[in-house]
This record gives sequence, structure tokens and C-alpha cells, in this order.
Amino acid sequence: MLTAEEEQEIKAELAHYPNTQAVCIDAMMVVQRSRGWVSDESIRDIADLLGMSSADLDGVATFYNLIRRKPVGRHVALICDSVSCWIMGCERVRDQLCTRLGTALGGSTADGRFTLLPIVCLGACDHAPVMLIDGDLHTDVDEQRIDQVLQKYI
Ligand code: FES
Repeated sequence: MLTAEEEQEIKAELAHYPNTQAVCIDAMMVVQRSRGWVSDESIRDIADLLGMSSADLDGVATFYNLIRRKPVGRHVALICDSVSCWIMGCERVRDQLCTRLGTALGGSTADGRFTLLPIVCLGACDHAPVMLIDGDLHTDVDEQRIDQVLQKYI
């Protein structure tokens, strides 16, 4: 069930769009901001609120890679794997992160602290490799800086 705050925020978003379906990504982001992810139950509740089918909304969620359909850790690290970051060694950074945190890309740490996910270009190619943790952009990341970066997210 959506909280009163989530419903209010979604309805406020509606004022900026020509129809209810146009707001569906923002509506899912409202729920994701408060819960960390969008469950099947939330998909159903949002779809009901917007007057669309759960299947249609789930289709949008599946297509839009920033909507998380599985539970995530307290911090989400998005590791860019597009061409500039790949050339500059994002695979080494990714492997070191996975080793340090004891989880694979796409997984979460056993203590629920981190989830590691791939992402396409973050628009900071001139400072590759790049990753985004909880909205903080970390640039020029290398194996030496990983521990320093992770320390910020206890
Ligand atoms: S390719 Fe990684 S930020 Fe652009």
C-alpha cells in the first residue's frame, strides 16, 4: 500500500504532466526514493492510482534501468561500464570492488550495506572510470582510491 506521503507526492507530480500515464516513471521514482526499490505490490498500487495496468507499468519499469525491481542495500554503487570507462579500466575497479565487498556485480553484500550495479555512461567520461554512490559522483576511481571512497559509506 502506498503511504499517504507517497500518494501525495505522486499526485503533485501529476500536475506537471498532460495525463496520468506520463507520470508513471516519476511515480515509481517516488516509491523508490522512500523504499529503495519498487516491489510487485508497489507496481500494482501505482498502476491503480494512475489508472493503468500493472503489466504496462511493469513493462516501463523493466525498460527503464534506473527503476530497481529487487531489494537493494543501504547504499547503491552504480559502476559505469560504457566505452570511456571501459578503456580506462572500469573492469579492474569493478573486480576490486566485488572482491572488497564480497559480492558480484548485480548483488548485495551480506550485511546489506552495498548493492553493486552496472550503469551506462554517467556523462563524466573525461574523468573515467566513474561511479555513482547514492547520488555522489566519484571520478578517476582506481584500485588505490576504492577503500577511501567506500569509507564514506559506513
Ligand atoms: S563512459 Fe563512463 S562516464 Fe562516460
